Amino acid sequence: MLEPIKLIQQEVEQSQPRTTEDLEAFRLKFISKKGVIGQLFNELSQLGPAEKRNVGQALNKLKQQAQEKYDFCATQLQAAPQQAASNHEDYTLPPPSDTLGSQHPISLLKNKIIEIFEKIGFNMVEGPEIEDEWHNFGALNFAPNHPARDMLDTFFISQSPDILLRTHTSSVQIRVAESQKPPLRALSIGRVYRNETISARSHCMFHQVEGFYVNKGVSFAELKQTLSYFMSSLFGEQVQVRLRPSYFPFTEPSTEIDITCRVCGGTGCNICKHTGWLEIGGGGMIDPAVLKNCHIDPTIYTGYAFGMGLERIAMLLHQINDLRLFTENDIRFLRQFKAYV
Ligand code: PHE
Repeated sequence: MLEPIKLIQQEVEQSQPRTTEDLEAFRLKFISKKGVIGQLFNELSQLGPAEKRNVGQALNKLKQQAQEKYDFCATQLQAAPQQAASNHEDYTLPPPSDTLGSQHPISLLKNKIIEIFEKIGFNMVEGPEIEDEWHNFGALNFAPNHPARDMLDTFFISQSPDILLRTHTSSVQIRVAESQKPPLRALSIGRVYRNETISARSHCMFHQVEGFYVNKGVSFAELKQTLSYFMSSLFGEQVQVRLRPSYFPFTEPSTEIDITCRVCGGTGCNICKHTGWLEIGGGGMIDPAVLKNCHIDPTIYTGYAFGMGLERIAMLLHQINDLRLFTENDIRFLRQFKAYV
């Protein structure tokens, strides 16, 4: 009788119940009283005492093995029923879409902005995040005692020579203008740093986009048209742009750039503080002194420049109310950005 026991043992080892039906068939065949092992137990009484002991031991072991296998498969089925049933999968179905990763909202916005400006002939340029005082302040016409140069606003890496983390992407204007000849039409997107307390509305690190155009006879009207084109490409045709007089050391005249509030459409709400307008960046005509600093003759050439915060734009696009979300890498936040807008 040891021979049939061995065969049953092999069968138990080889069987792979994956569904509840398979498992029930396994139970009926090996574990129930009327199953093959049960039957062998019934035949024990016909054996002599010595054989009875041997066969009895082997049968008990087999019974235990079958039970263990049953318990193991039952718990697996409970934990992952669909996986256990995977031999019934339809392999012609497309793969589940949520296995794809998502892109960070700032990367998505960056790509979109590049796409918009490439269409009107802007070149993409990059500048260093670790800058010297000249490119970040001096060449941009910041007076030596300008408050932005203060340690409270700027992260200095070393002093004399003054090396710092750039506080804006306007430094890239200088890098390009001093090394290339006009006409210049460039766009730069990158990180900037300011010594600010981190809160829902401010951060010590964020992203800016800087665009500028230097050529003969560039006018303020061109700046306005470029900004209108950009805003309507990004936010939709219905958006309106408003330019408000302002001051930057490196542009003259300077302007604050506003757009109509996306939430209320310009009628007034608490997002736009009931003005109907939201400030989105700054710009203006490049100051002649800045062109001179880059060895460009301001009597021949003029230019415009503008700069905007990417986080601010992304917050408006997606109705995000806390700046910190962009850097916390909370997977629940990031997962929401599978495709653009
Ligand atoms: N650099 C300015 C800022 O960070 C924005 C700006 C860019 C203004 C270009 C005018 C021209 O606020």
